[in-house]
Amino acid sequence: AAGDAGKGERVYKKCAACHQVGEGAKNRVGPELNDLIGRTAGSVDGFKYSKAMTEAGAGGLVWDETTLDAYLESPRTAIKGTRMAFPGIKEADDRADVIAYLATFSKQ
Ligand code: HEM
Repeated sequence: AAGDAGKGERVYKKCAACHQVGEGAKNRVGPELNDLIGRTAGSVDGFKYSKAMTEAGAGGLVWDETTLDAYLESPRTAIKGTRMAFPGIKEADDRADVIAYLATFSKQ
């Protein structure tokens, strides 16, 4: 089901410690998240990714509603060796909402 971007803005507070999104967003602990939908994993210029994330992108992983849902549910299960130190979001609705919020910063 499509998420609610307004609710997702609240869920995103969990991400904001490490990620920026929106005008002027910069890489911090994690890469900036503008234009995330349709973006190849591990592809932001100037961000030093884990080998696991770089390889996932080279292997064809592209971020969309489905791939983000799996990564955000359990980052280290979805991409073994990722250095995103985040346990994941248990509730499917919360994941859908934060993905809908991030999609508002994507052209796709
Ligand atoms: C990577 C989303 C929370 C640190 C990523 C990526 C996404 C993402 C989509 C892959 C980006 C890419 O391929 O360019 C989120 C969301 C979060 C969240 C939606 C909240 C629900 C966090 C938190 C931290 C963090 C809290 C820090 C404690 C990182 C790091 C990477 C990353 C270091 C790079 C991982 C690697 O190279 O393996 N995040 N993140 N993230 N995130 Fe997060």
